[in-house]
Amino acid sequence: MAKLDARKIKKDFPILGTKMNGKVLAYLDSAATSQKPKQVIDSISYYYKNYNANIHRGIYKISEKATEAYTKSKEDLAKFINAKSYREVVFLRNATEAINLVALSWGDANVKRGDHILTTPMEHHSNMVPWQLLAKRKGAHLDYANLSENSFIDMEDLGEKLEMEPKIVAITEVSNVLGTINDVKKITEMAHKAGAVVLIDGAQSAPHMKVDVQKINCDFFAFSGHKMLAPSGIGALYGKEDVLDLMNPLFGGGEMIRSVTLEGATWNDLPWKFEAGTQNIEGAIGFGEAIGYLNKIGMDKVRKHEEDITRYAMEKLGEIDRVKIYGPTSKQMNKRGGIVSFSVDGIHPHDVSQVFDSEGIAIRSGHHCAMPLVTQMLGNSALSRMSFYIYNEREDIDRAVHAIHKAKRIFGK
Ligand SMILES: Cc1ncc(COP(=O)(O)O)c(C=O)c1O
Repeated sequence: MAKLDARKIKKDFPILGTKMNGKVLAYLDSAATSQKPKQVIDSISYYYKNYNANIHRGIYKISEKATEAYTKSKEDLAKFINAKSYREVVFLRNATEAINLVALSWGDANVKRGDHILTTPMEHHSNMVPWQLLAKRKGAHLDYANLSENSFIDMEDLGEKLEMEPKIVAITEVSNVLGTINDVKKITEMAHKAGAVVLIDGAQSAPHMKVDVQKINCDFFAFSGHKMLAPSGIGALYGKEDVLDLMNPLFGGGEMIRSVTLEGATWNDLPWKFEAGTQNIEGAIGFGEAIGYLNKIGMDKVRKHEEDITRYAMEKLGEIDRVKIYGPTSKQMNKRGGIVSFSVDGIHPHDVSQVFDSEGIAIRSGHHCAMPLVTQMLGNSALSRMSFYIYNEREDIDRAVHAIHKAKRIFGK
């Protein structure tokens, strides 16, 4: 397999040619949000300049064209994750909204007092708080599978917690802090055997590796466009058709209805049943363009590139005294995505970030919206995190290494 050419790809991203603090931007924060190629930016601008109209309703050319583009994006997205049909793909604002929709609509209808819900301590708040809220609303128990080596889901413990016969198991495919890639196919199989419905948080996997929802066999899969080259404000929920069919819509109004009388309403077909009100049309169009861009590269190449760059980053950071790296080791690369969280002994992560900033490098420091993991499990108030994508090169890592040495000099460590 030929390698992805990050240097060539970089040229498609206007922002990566700009400077931050007088230095060419090295963007190492794609787990927070990715940068956007000009193809995506142009597709949105083209829509506004040439066929901006509301979808579904207009019987005139540009509305039909906008509807077509919106639907095509949905079809492309369905193919991208290998859903059986676009009817299984609901456009929402982001992964957070997708997970909340499931917790509110499916959860309220199916979880009762005393029931169990199962998740893990390595979840992003977006895949933890909705379940805490649901458990509270219903008087249900929220269980957490243990972690092993501070990096992996303890599968034995997961098996034991499944004996409680949880109604739903909600687990991330890739941890946004540890980079751990969970075996979601196996987890889904185990959970189904225990009678649970399965939701996979794909916010950090869909942008970076091939996702096949039929192979995983999960019931729900949530992800965000902005982390995969698309604009913000557009994300998606995949749901198996028979599961979505039985669910009630969360919001009323607009395209989600079939008919309305003064007494009540009936619902539109899938997936429109869950898309109330005017949608983020330009976002969906940009999302479709982003999917096209990723398809052109090939997700296998994307994954391979990130594996290479992550291995390189771990090797280089591993050589620096007082630097600790979290998550799977460099020998466990098949279980690690393009995320490297680290700490520099004696220097606060925010100070590390500031030094990076002065060098034109964007990284993130904090609890990464995974406070239970960072504080309770790993025992840190904050961590620094570098995260990679298709436009990152070894040179970005070399600059990061230089910035760590600079921070150590400044803080006398
Ligand atoms: C693993 C994980 N899940 C969910 C989310 C939430 O994504 P969004 O803010 O786009 O809804 C994130 C965002 O960082 C994430 O990393």
